[in-house]
Amino acid sequence: METIRIPRIMQATAKAALCKGKTIGLVPTMGALHKGHMSLVRRARSENDIVVVSVFVNPLQFGPNEDFDRYPRDIERDKELLQHEGADILLVPELKGMYPEGYATRITVQGLSEKLCGAFRPGHFAGVATVVAKIFNIVKPTRTYFGQKDFQQTVVIKRLIEDLNMDIELVIGQTVRESDGLAMSSRNMYLTAPERKAALIIYKTLTEASKMVKSGASRPEEVRSHMHALLKTEPLVAEIQYAGVYDPETLDDLIEYKKRNLLAIAIKIGSTRLIDNMIVE
Ligand code: PAJ
Repeated sequence: METIRIPRIMQATAKAALCKGKTIGLVPTMGALHKGHMSLVRRARSENDIVVVSVFVNPLQFGPNEDFDRYPRDIERDKELLQHEGADILLVPELKGMYPEGYATRITVQGLSEKLCGAFRPGHFAGVATVVAKIFNIVKPTRTYFGQKDFQQTVVIKRLIEDLNMDIELVIGQTVRESDGLAMSSRNMYLTAPERKAALIIYKTLTEASKMVKSGASRPEEVRSHMHALLKTEPLVAEIQYAGVYDPETLDDLIEYKKRNLLAIAIKIGSTRLIDNMIVE
């Protein structure tokens, strides 16, 4: 596996590969890789000639009081995992390489970016859209792989690709969970042992809610109330940012069920913000 730090070198490498008719699969990440990330890498490996994984903790998508400084970083471990999974290129751009002096451009996907997580993380999705557009221009992927774990992110990136006529296939990988159901996340590392136990309430709530939706006996509003009530039974839940049934395309609250329904939750356990979701057909 080759490690590339300079965007221009990555671009030249990508151009050469595309000229030879090779396909490029890209998995953008912020590192601290876990099985969720690796499932995307594996899928990319099986569908492309060249697999590029980017590791870049993007300051633009963190709010002033968020965890940019303490976000877990372990590039040596990441390298080993990626090598093992057969990735071809690890792209680790430096901060100055991505945002040199004079850098001035932001990409905003309007509307979608303000819903759900966006309401609690102003500027977050503009930060994501901007860095992802840059990484797309650097890596020139044929396909790019994102996890359903960050559902709203996939919706924003889908819009970005369509709106800016990017010729990239977006592949969405299923959420990988711990054996007890907790969605894997780099942020799970912040949880103390009691908080880790308490975090199970998220999966429990999503599972119960999905049963309610499937049975068709309760309306979305009742499911939403039940989700809030269940989350409140866990004393270590410090804040419920949102929990409910949403339209998976517009991310708006659902009044009536659609063919596909998004159940989504964002809560704080102690000071750690956790999100998860399920699609119920
Ligand atoms: P990061 O949180 O590192 O996630 C990288 C990719 O892994 C995302 O597409 C995310 O949805 C996916 N992922 C995370 N946990 C997962 C799980 N349990 N199962 C399946 N996939 C999972 O998301 C970002 O980084 C950043 O916002 C980024 C897109 C890299 C832009 O900076």
